[in-house]
Amino acid sequence: MCGIVGCVLKNKEVAPILFDSISKLEYRGYDSIGLATGHNNKINLKKDAGKVAEVDAKLDLKDLDGTYGIAHVRWATHGDPSKVNSHPHLNNDGTIAVVHNGIIENYLSIKKELESEGYDFVSDTDTEVIPNLIDKYMKTGLDLTQAVRKVINVIEGAYALAAISVSEPNRIVATRKDSPLIVGIGEEEYFIASDSPAILKYTNNIAYLEKDELVILDEDGVSFLDENDNLIGKDVEVIQWSPDMAEKEGFPHFMIKEINEQSTTIRNTLNEKDNVQFIVDEIKEDINKVLFVACGTSYHASLTGKYLIESLAEIQTEVLLASEFKYSASSLNEKTLVIFISQSGETADTLKALDIANKSSKTLAIVNVRGSSATRRADYTIYTQAGPEIGVAATKTYIGQLVAIYLLASLLGDNENLIEKLYDVPRYIEEVLAKEDIIKHFSNKFKKLSKVPKYIKPILSMPHAYKGLKNNFRHVEDMFFIGRGYSYSIALEGALKLKEISYIHAEAYAGGELKHGPIALIDDDVPVVVLAPPGRDHRKIMSNLEEVKARGASIIGIGAIGDEDLISKSDYNFLINSEVDELIAPLVYIVPLQLLSYYVSVARNLNPDKPKNLAKCVTVE
Ligand code: M6R
Repeated sequence: MCGIVGCVLKNKEVAPILFDSISKLEYRGYDSIGLATGHNNKINLKKDAGKVAEVDAKLDLKDLDGTYGIAHVRWATHGDPSKVNSHPHLNNDGTIAVVHNGIIENYLSIKKELESEGYDFVSDTDTEVIPNLIDKYMKTGLDLTQAVRKVINVIEGAYALAAISVSEPNRIVATRKDSPLIVGIGEEEYFIASDSPAILKYTNNIAYLEKDELVILDEDGVSFLDENDNLIGKDVEVIQWSPDMAEKEGFPHFMIKEINEQSTTIRNTLNEKDNVQFIVDEIKEDINKVLFVACGTSYHASLTGKYLIESLAEIQTEVLLASEFKYSASSLNEKTLVIFISQSGETADTLKALDIANKSSKTLAIVNVRGSSATRRADYTIYTQAGPEIGVAATKTYIGQLVAIYLLASLLGDNENLIEKLYDVPRYIEEVLAKEDIIKHFSNKFKKLSKVPKYIKPILSMPHAYKGLKNNFRHVEDMFFIGRGYSYSIALEGALKLKEISYIHAEAYAGGELKHGPIALIDDDVPVVVLAPPGRDHRKIMSNLEEVKARGASIIGIGAIGDEDLISKSDYNFLINSEVDELIAPLVYIVPLQLLSYYVSVARNLNPDKPKNLAKCVTVE
């Protein structure tokens, strides 16, 4: 939900570094980009709607004079994605510039007041009140730092913001509340950023800003003020992620690179075993209930967690969407372990729920981003060791979350055998990836025709003739995914992936639920992906396969090598090592579905890394 960067350098032009850094945050928003630098008593500004590369081609964003500046990529909330609504925003006389990530909830009343005092507004954004408020306060004699403090006493909502003023050259003042902001401390180069990939190339020394603390960057260093404006020291963490981890390294998209990194993620996350054992030893005797809270893909990982913890550790387990938490969390008590799963550790709904749960229960965060808000607020943390995930669609971090959950459930249930099995999973995934061409080839059937060849036209003119062709998925706009037990959550995650990056409407159902309604939607235009790993539920999911096949659906079967029943009944199939049973299926069977969504997206000429309307990290409720 927007990315911000600020940088102060000593005797060096800032715009190329600022541009490079903000480009690394494009996954947080790609509605617009803008940079502002300070030079010779003047703010230089370039900004426009569009993706980073498009706007740079038009404006040459690296060409701005100055040694300090701020930059922004936007995911629009207030006001459409236009040039005028792009950040940075300026005060009326263009001497102060501000970038902001978050939402100022009371901006309308502030705007009204400022208008009555003679301020003009050019954009529809909530942010534009900030530079004008700073201006108003500086005109009363306050310096930039004091003015920013006064602003945050007035604004309500969520923010990470940074401001520069020509009256205080080579200085950035930044602050945050409910939106992430880190501080990078390099050699004569100082940064603020929404996330570490922006600055890894320049420094690994990171400090974290707490709510309503201020950071002041100038050419001689960085200083921090607590919420009462006392000068404070900060721990500086040296983070181990390298800048290469945030590059595509020869892959056409981050998503496919990240899919390919999943076996490494599993191996790395298994190294969390001692930490998980420590947490289990601390809490096991004191809990009688587990509650998972998460959004999106992290919610799907949580569903697997429910099935695992209930069956392995026999502890009652519930799962709630973070956005629904406040409506039904009344039964929490000190015997409940509430587990928050979040790749970013910054999802607004998840953090809100975490704050509520902290009042009555033990809390555990399963998170990928080091030092993120969830890790600092929960009682315990398990890191999914996936490295930076840039593709908007979660892939390797989902696998990391699952591994953390499998470790937790196995250790809660004293099931060392399952942990042993997890060490084989990277090999199964590598076997799947070695056969990715099968899925790539199949996904090409979803390619839309740009020009209809003449010889197809007569067929097309016959009603439905073209649509009903069984081996042709060009027209497909709806799909179903079905699974049972552990495979139900795989179906949900597979459907979400397809929706978010291929824009195909996809429904996931528990196989047994189809005949209670949704089967009415099945006909020969709706392909159905059937997840049928070996195990207790295999026969039952095969019956569900028969039900949809009888209604004309094309069947895409995902099952075990040698599963002749599935092979004979599917129109297409993708086969996986038969050692992968239904218990560990979520870790492996999801991979062909990730590949399917990726290659369908590519076949339809879409950008899987930057799906429309989405951002990597959802920092507003
Ligand atoms: O950072 P989080 O795990 O808290 O994010 C939760 C969801 O926003 C996220 O999983 C989202 O659904 C992804 N785009 C899924 O690919």
